[in-house]
Amino acid sequence: MLDLHCHILPATDDGPQTLEESLQMARLAREDGITDIIATPHHHRFLRLYRSEILPRVASLNAELQRAGIAVLVWPGSEIQVSDLELYRADYDAGKLCHLGDRRDFSLWEWPWDERMHPEAEREHIGWLLERGTRPIVAHPERHAFFRDDLARLDALVEAGAWLQITAGSLLGHHGVDPQTGGEAMMRRYREVVLATDSHNLKRRSGLSEAYARVEELVGRERADEVKARAAAVLTGFSAPESV
Ligand SMILES: [Fe+2]
Repeated sequence: MLDLHCHILPATDDGPQTLEESLQMARLAREDGITDIIATPHHHRFLRLYRSEILPRVASLNAELQRAGIAVLVWPGSEIQVSDLELYRADYDAGKLCHLGDRRDFSLWEWPWDERMHPEAEREHIGWLLERGTRPIVAHPERHAFFRDDLARLDALVEAGAWLQITAGSLLGHHGVDPQTGGEAMMRRYREVVLATDSHNLKRRSGLSEAYARVEELVGRERADEVKARAAAVLTGFSAPESV
């Protein structure tokens, strides 16, 4: 399995603070059946992590994983909050942002938790990205009340071409009742869904295989397979990551 949203880089953001914790997260992910992890450190107004900082950290972690004999490949990426569209587009055009797999096909987009920071013209921005060959994936909409309580807004984003990333732990009840019921409702409502862990440490960890089983209970085997296939499509086309 691929986990396409995971804060696994050591001492980088609010993820693991030590290499040993990163390696232990990877071991537990591997035990759960995960072979590929996209490292998605935060990129927001307080912590602007660009490709230039992310790529060497990913290479270094891959080397440590090899050394430790842990059969997990880590790919570059980031979880990008968009509030200032002008700045975002300048960074995008300059090639400074780290999208999933360090390609432009898919980008993980987190809405700011503070609604006052939301970009205007969010729907138009999806069109702007798609024109440039990038499909945005909305990070954990089920954890945001502004999406749960206004599915018409989410409908508009999906109609514009966005995919949705539901967090495994939400479906398993680890983030409380509202994200769980919200996530279930979104699973039933949308086909354009992928699952990921959004793991940050050894407490907020995997559960991905359990969440896929929950998806199967909710919407059936065929849809669960489709959700998995969508994640596999994200991984297709990545070139082998370097390790130093
Ligand atoms: Fe995250």
